[in-house]
Amino acid sequence: MKIRSMIDRDKPAIMHILRNTPEFTPEEVDLAEEVIDDYLEDSAASGFFTLVADLEPGIGGYVVYGSVPISYNVWELYWFAVDGNIRGQGIGRKLWETAENNMWEAGARLLVIETSTKSEYDRTNLFYERAGYKEVGLIKDFYMIGDDQITYEKRRPQ
Ligand SMILES: CC(C)(COP(=O)(O)OP(=O)(O)OC[C@H]1O[C@@H](n2cnc3c(N)ncnc32)[C@H](O)[C@@H]1OP(=O)(O)O)[C@@H](O)C(=O)NCCC(=O)NCCS
Repeated sequence: MKIRSMIDRDKPAIMHILRNTPEFTPEEVDLAEEVIDDYLEDSAASGFFTLVADLEPGIGGYVVYGSVPISYNVWELYWFAVDGNIRGQGIGRKLWETAENNMWEAGARLLVIETSTKSEYDRTNLFYERAGYKEVGLIKDFYMIGDDQITYEKRRPQ
């Protein structure tokens, strides 16, 4: 498996993964596509960084992250998905480790992940906790009544 930056021809495979990720609503998939299009049109101007897991052949998943504008070296995870048929095989970990290393190298001081507390995200949130993320905030009923937003953070290793 190779972790590399996304290029134009990866888009159909990524859209297929997104459309078959039951955790994501159609609106979220549309938004994810807009982010991909912005990135592919002009990655530098978009402010997004997008990595894919290239299984040679086939794309196993992708991650989008970027620095938060007007913050002091805070970086954030924007989108993250691995093909539902091949989850639990270490692809997400490899993608996220590469993204994290890139962010530290780019000078990140603080990494932030905002996600949902819906039960569908239990395993995802366990993934973040196992990756060393600490829960630092919760906004009740953020996404919908009964669907809270949880914030995780990780600080630059000393
Ligand atoms: C979160 C996600 C990207 C992780 O990718 P992955 O390739 O399954 O992750 P890995 O195989 O590297 O790590 C597996 C760990 O992730 C967690 N995990 C999350 N969802 C899982 C799933 N459906 N199947 C297996 N493990 C899952 C488990 O804690 C597991 O730990 P374990 O192997 O010690 O049991 C992937 O599960 C996914 O696409 N989830 C749905 C979309 C999503 O929630 N995106 C994030 C939005 S904030």
